[in-house]
Amino acid sequence: MNNILVTGGAGFIGSHVIRVLLKNNPGKRVINYDKLTYAGNLENLKDVQDNENYFFVKGDICDERNVFETLNKFDIDAIVHLAAESHVDRSIEDPLVFVKTNLIGTTNLLAQAKKHWDGDFNNKRFYHVSTDEVYGSLDLDDSLFSETTPYDPRSPYSASKAGSDHLVSSFYHTYGLPIVMSNCSNNYGPNQFPEKLIPLFINNIYNKKPLPVYGKGENVRDWLYVEDHALAISKILFEGQVGQTYNIGGHNEWSNIDLIKILCDKMDAYLGREIGESQNLITFVKDRAGHDLRYAIDASKIQTNLGWVPSLQFEEGIEKTIDWYMTNREWLENVTSGEYQSYYEKMYEKK
Ligand code: NAD
Ligand code: TYD
Repeated sequence: MNNILVTGGAGFIGSHVIRVLLKNNPGKRVINYDKLTYAGNLENLKDVQDNENYFFVKGDICDERNVFETLNKFDIDAIVHLAAESHVDRSIEDPLVFVKTNLIGTTNLLAQAKKHWDGDFNNKRFYHVSTDEVYGSLDLDDSLFSETTPYDPRSPYSASKAGSDHLVSSFYHTYGLPIVMSNCSNNYGPNQFPEKLIPLFINNIYNKKPLPVYGKGENVRDWLYVEDHALAISKILFEGQVGQTYNIGGHNEWSNIDLIKILCDKMDAYLGREIGESQNLITFVKDRAGHDLRYAIDASKIQTNLGWVPSLQFEEGIEKTIDWYMTNREWLENVTSGEYQSYYEKMYEKK
């Protein structure tokens, strides 16, 4: 596999995946195919934009012709599919765009890959990146999600991702397309759009703005540092078994309120404020509709079969994350002002 197409590479996780693939595989070409929605930001890839093995194509995964031509032009033999609408709150406001990108877009990508490879699946891979939210919601005393947990998605976002997982699986069973899949827990780290909990709250704490905690803050998430997810994706791409799904998680469960208090105190320490000061910004607001109580992943399969474990402890990960957002305030300001959307125009369409 020498020519790797990454969809959604200008987003949060995709940009880390591109960096890992380029760094660990000199000589392989990495093509970033991204529509640049509000969540896509080429600034995330500033450090690799001049790498001779990195290419950018602006395009929608729903666009049949553009996808097919790109697969042909770069002689793509591996696809790492991350492009998606990814924010639960937005899916509650506007489910249709989630169906378009996550379901129709994924199906188009599958169909174009099948057409491009034209029955020769030797050394080809279609890797679909998904979420643990497809498994639904756990009670506090339930055991963890495993690869065999029945799907039970409950938000428009998770329903659209669950549907895309089923379509990927159907292309394996029906046509023999060489797929692999992974379902990962909540990611955090550099370059995450500040609509998601951790970057939003870092930004609000810095600006002394209220921290809107949904409901009582008792919902639990299992947090994984984004670079560890990117390393897991790279491992699964090259070493994962065709037809298999791998769960990825940090064994790192936190209730929102406990995590937010840690974030507040660590930000106070970082900014030289009195410890406890930022906790005064915590504001309990109306709960999210259909708010899943708990997600938690059993990541033993990827550990046993592929030898992957997270490299970072949570405390170190959160400190690195705070440090990144605070030393990249311009990135945060560009993203919150919308300025980043002109970054593409400022750049040339690469090669
Ligand atoms: P993101 O919202 O930060 O980035 C999504 C990227 O996809 C953006 O660059 C956007 O421009 C691009 N995109 C959106 N619609 C497109 C379309 N129609 N055509 C081409 N490109 C399009 O998302 P993320 O948080 O980086 O998530 C990436 C993937 O990982 C998603 O599939 C998501 O479901 C999955 N995932 C995310 C998490 C998480 O915690 N963020 C956890 C598990 C799985
Ligand atoms: P989020 O980052 O949106 O990820 P997901 O919903 O996919 O897990 O939210 C993480 C948790 O934080 C979730 O339980 C919802 C909660 N939350 C808040 O309490 N306030 C907020 O402003 C946001 C964005 C999320």
